[in-house]
Amino acid sequence: MRPLTVQAPAKVNWYLAVRGKRPDGYHELETLFVRLNLCDTLTLVDRPSGIRLVTASRLPKGPANLAYRAAALLRDEAGISRGVEIRLRKRIPAAAGLGGGSSDAAAVLLGLNRLWRLGFSRAKLAALGARLGSDVPFFVSGAAYALGRGRGERITPIASRRRLWHVLVKPPFGIATREAYQAFSRRAAAGDPSLTPPGGGVKILIRFLQNRRADLLPEGFFNNLEVVLNNRLKKILIIKKRLLESGAKAALLSGSGSTVLGVFENGAQARRAARRLSAKRSGKIFVVRTL
Ligand code: C5P
Repeated sequence: MRPLTVQAPAKVNWYLAVRGKRPDGYHELETLFVRLNLCDTLTLVDRPSGIRLVTASRLPKGPANLAYRAAALLRDEAGISRGVEIRLRKRIPAAAGLGGGSSDAAAVLLGLNRLWRLGFSRAKLAALGARLGSDVPFFVSGAAYALGRGRGERITPIASRRRLWHVLVKPPFGIATREAYQAFSRRAAAGDPSLTPPGGGVKILIRFLQNRRADLLPEGFFNNLEVVLNNRLKKILIIKKRLLESGAKAALLSGSGSTVLGVFENGAQARRAARRLSAKRSGKIFVVRTL
């Protein structure tokens, strides 16, 4: 069996409307996922037994890593006794709202399904992925754009030829997803009106993606996890302001953060903005495109 190398792309959310808390502890939400060409690379090498994760990054290398758990889950589900060495080259920052861990897990599910010739359908892999994390089914879907509903795991792909340049700014601090949702719950219980999504909802952005609107409408961008960031909000808002001053059409916190994304008209503008922002030392900067 020859080793298999797969790419695991990052995502941003152009829209994230978190709603109420469900009996299972998760939050009901509606989101628009956008896939980017910032990728981790994974090489899967078949072994007679045992799962081994090799990475130069500081991430956990055992079951605390979603990529490791994905391999264990797939092996158990298939009822086989193979093993795998997962070589992970990390480029997507962690605790950043870019879905890096979830994407690695999806890449392991898709890759091992091929390597071990298991023949599981994409729908089956997505269902397994949902057990690992709410964002995993989006990455399993292979869509460039998709709506996520439920806790984010119910995916509707959106066909679009749009390819957009993004500048990502990842501040020095990260944000744990669970904490962002907990903070949201507290604010929602207090009846905060700023948590209410805009009237047109996610449809504004879908119309743009389906070419039924020529212009990207910044008012369609929304994330109600942004306002619950408390002491870190100020730093996020400064980065947003800088992105907009540097020519971004729209700027927003991605997912539960801490990355802030800016969408640009073209590559030259994105690179110019990135140069301006690096001078401000706001964080690590990436110039990327939808994939
Ligand atoms: O699904 P995932 O494991 O990525 O979620 C991490 C944490 O984020 C969950 O344990 C939960 O606290 C929170 N979460 C939530 N509602 C969602 C997704 C995540 O409350 N829809």
